[in-house]
Amino acid sequence: MKKKVLQTLFKSSEDIVSGVSLSEELGISRVAVWKHIKSLKAGGIEINSTSRGYSLPNKDDLLFPFCFEKYQDKIHFSPSVSTTMNSAKKMARESLDDFSVIIAQNQTNGRGRLNRKWVSSDGGLWFTLILKPDLPPPLAYILNFAASFSLATALNDLFQIDAKVKWPNDILIKNKKLAGLLSEMETEGDMLKFINIGIGLNVNNDPEQDIPDSVSIKNIIGEHVPRRKIIIKFLNIFEMLYHKINNQTITSQDIILMWKKHTSTIGNYVSIETFGEKFEGLATDVDDSGALLLKTDDGQSKKIIYGDCFYKDNN
Ligand code: BTN
Repeated sequence: MKKKVLQTLFKSSEDIVSGVSLSEELGISRVAVWKHIKSLKAGGIEINSTSRGYSLPNKDDLLFPFCFEKYQDKIHFSPSVSTTMNSAKKMARESLDDFSVIIAQNQTNGRGRLNRKWVSSDGGLWFTLILKPDLPPPLAYILNFAASFSLATALNDLFQIDAKVKWPNDILIKNKKLAGLLSEMETEGDMLKFINIGIGLNVNNDPEQDIPDSVSIKNIIGEHVPRRKIIIKFLNIFEMLYHKINNQTITSQDIILMWKKHTSTIGNYVSIETFGEKFEGLATDVDDSGALLLKTDDGQSKKIIYGDCFYKDNN
């Protein structure tokens, strides 16, 4: 019933919905309505209560499945989880559909690449996309590039913020980290069983407090940002590419080329940390397999297939 109260408030065409009309529509007493509203507020949902009734001040920020028209059957939302990566893995194994999206308001144990902790407080967008494409594992990398390209494109279209992609899968604004992507996959025979792409995007949170050289959209544009709009835009762009990848009407080369048009990595002097190794040099290109090509100070060319990249001038 608590969910129904919220859903009725959300779907109402009136800005303010009176306790009487909520109680009539839902067939419960006004006191019961009031109790559900109190419990929703205690759960972190902003609801304004006045003598005229109740209203949702940040409707566009809600991430419950019923708030997403086109994608509502695909969205799974939880107020708090350990990490959406684990929830998604469990759900993907238990045969949740292709293109499902696991979103959490916050994560208590968010993780980043190379086993780093990922701070995920309220206000950010923390979600994992479950994908079940017909692809062999060596081609899975292309989905990561398609996802980071789609996210940068969505953010630039919505906010004109000049978001850039950084190899392998970060989104930066003015060289500060706005988002990171992490993918995990399982295989069956010689094909992918699933690949889960986790996306952490700083939206209305203040990541600068914990992580130097990071930034949120709110802190760039100076106002609170509705998160649902971002996720819908991203899903629209990514879904189109995903279909093309699945029906082979786009090649890996095309995706890498599109990604390269948005990158700030090529031409930068970088340091790369991979498992146990560190390299420094000029990033000269990203090849069709997604590897970073590096010219080191002693003139050698290196091909790096996995790692974390830091721009030497900035971070
Ligand atoms: C990185 O830059 O190191 C990748 C960060 C990925 C963070 C996201 S938030 C949603 C999903 N759940 C996690 O625990 N991690 C990813």
